[in-house]
Amino acid sequence: MPRCGGVLRAAGAAGVPAAAIHGRWPDIAASVPIEPADVVVCHHVLYNVADLVPFVRALTTCAKERVVVELTDRHPRAGLAPLWQEIWGIHRPDGPDATAAAEVVREAGIEVVTESFEVPARPSRGRAAIVAGIRRHLCAGPERDGEIDRLLPGDFDTGRRSVTCLWWPGAAEG
Ligand SMILES: C[S@@+](CC[C@H](N)C(=O)[O-])C[C@H]1O[C@@H](n2cnc3c(N)ncnc32)[C@H](O)[C@@H]1O
Repeated sequence: MPRCGGVLRAAGAAGVPAAAIHGRWPDIAASVPIEPADVVVCHHVLYNVADLVPFVRALTTCAKERVVVELTDRHPRAGLAPLWQEIWGIHRPDGPDATAAAEVVREAGIEVVTESFEVPARPSRGRAAIVAGIRRHLCAGPERDGEIDRLLPGDFDTGRRSVTCLWWPGAAEG
């Protein structure tokens, strides 16, 4: 189930009309009954997009003024690479990162501007919940929790996060 309930609730609370359309972008782009927007935003989605170019081109055709894409500087799971090595003996990459994403967009002929900044730390979920969440990402059972707890830095998940916005002009008429 897509994670859009929070966005719809926030829009409702702000009195902004909102609708959710379930589907994979850009596959559903042609069937989305929306007018081009002044600004199109895409928040922390690029990580799982295998083919960035059609994805960002479809965003561009929906925006009259600007497309703004936010993502963390490094892939959110890149920090788990040492644990993959320790728990499973599997080498995982140290990226990709926002610079690589920007290069791909640029190579597609889009004049992308990047802006990096820090966002405040999220309230801690508590060590046990953090460990359990990471264990699920690592596809391990709860019997590995103690080991994962020992391997994780004490302040894991609570620090400020470095994020990057990529933005470029929209191409929709209007
Ligand atoms: C890290 S969550 C971010 C959710 C929300 N945008 C936010 O910022 O809270 C990433 C979401 O992107 C969705 N997603 C990944 N690739 C997608 C695609 N090609 N089309 C639509 N959604 C996609 C995933 O299903 C997941 O719900």
